[in-house]
Amino acid sequence: MSRASQALRPEAVNSPAEEGLRRKWIDAFHAVRQETERRAAPLSPEDQIIQSMADASPTKWHRAHTTWFLEQFVLQPHVAGYEVFDDRFAFLFNSYYVAAGPRHARPKRGLIARPSNDEVAAFRAHVDAAIERLLETAAPDVLEKIVPILEIGLHHEQQHQELILTDILHAFSQNPTDPAYDPAWRMPRGSARRDFVPLPAGVHFIGHKGEGFRFDNEEPAHRELIEPVKIARSLVTNGEWLEFMKDGGYSTASLWLSDAWAAAQAETWNAPAYWEDRNGQWFSFTLGGSQPVDLAAPVCHVSYYEADAFARWAGKHLPTESEWEVAARSNLLDDAYGIVWQWTRSAYLPYAGYRAPDGAIGEYNGKFMINQMVLRGSSLATPEGHARVTYRNFFYPPHRWQFTGLRLAEYGV
Ligand SMILES: [Fe+2]
Repeated sequence: MSRASQALRPEAVNSPAEEGLRRKWIDAFHAVRQETERRAAPLSPEDQIIQSMADASPTKWHRAHTTWFLEQFVLQPHVAGYEVFDDRFAFLFNSYYVAAGPRHARPKRGLIARPSNDEVAAFRAHVDAAIERLLETAAPDVLEKIVPILEIGLHHEQQHQELILTDILHAFSQNPTDPAYDPAWRMPRGSARRDFVPLPAGVHFIGHKGEGFRFDNEEPAHRELIEPVKIARSLVTNGEWLEFMKDGGYSTASLWLSDAWAAAQAETWNAPAYWEDRNGQWFSFTLGGSQPVDLAAPVCHVSYYEADAFARWAGKHLPTESEWEVAARSNLLDDAYGIVWQWTRSAYLPYAGYRAPDGAIGEYNGKFMINQMVLRGSSLATPEGHARVTYRNFFYPPHRWQFTGLRLAEYGV
């Protein structure tokens, strides 16, 4: 008997509960994999190869990298005799896992004309079939081992689904012919409530405990002190941002942190990313192409540096991630999810007692806990079912190409 057939038991008769579990994971797997393809579908092979800056990746790379992740961390360790689709792909599609071997330089991902889109589709089909067979036939003890890592693989792929949209938006923004990913796309409007609401001051548990998926960076749950503070019910709007601009926000050094001012000067920022002044009317480049800025919609594509300067101009501050989480748990926030990620003033640091997991998966979050800021909530590009109240997104303070906005907070109640 081969090692493969010892690990797999196609002949086994499974209990209804076990069958249900297998079906649940097969369905979840299909749903996530299909969503990636749904997002890539409007994009031509030429669209899918473009890399417009080092921080962004080509759509084709996202589709292949998420597939490599499953091959590397689910199939290879758990399916004896598994044959990799192409042994050159690990080098091309490993992102940053040093423990998983050498990898191609990130800024050069847009130079990889081959494998073609069709070959990447075949890679995806190969891995899909192997995962499906593994889920259908793995012995219960193997299933127990693979489900947690498969689950990380699915949430990982959802993160890349968001990046497919943010990265193609940046790429299309470089094109003078104004291409639209989806001509019908419009920036959603948020809540119109402009009030600030007090948080329950005192000691609160922050972070994930109990059941349900979470990334390692959401644990352990731990206590944080919330001082008397009020938080904005709603997101800052384009109209409010325009007031900041008209009041000289971008040219008043005293509003800006030192690094922020240096970045704003070097990059000649005078408005959010993708904004363009056309004869006195502001337009924004969006997934629907160039559109007039809707003053009632939440501001989007601002960096931490800009968000912090805006908060100082407004005489307020960005909430800490603990303040955000307590407010969200207390149902005080409108549009906490689904429009823009919200910058917090919290540096992306390990929670008290955090330890990165052993092995390559330990590289997923822990090694990035330096020089980045936490964002909370989720955005219009975040896939259904991905975000939660303890979710910690993180980006570098000058980054603007994600769907990032802000809400304000104010000390003293
Ligand atoms: Fe990744």
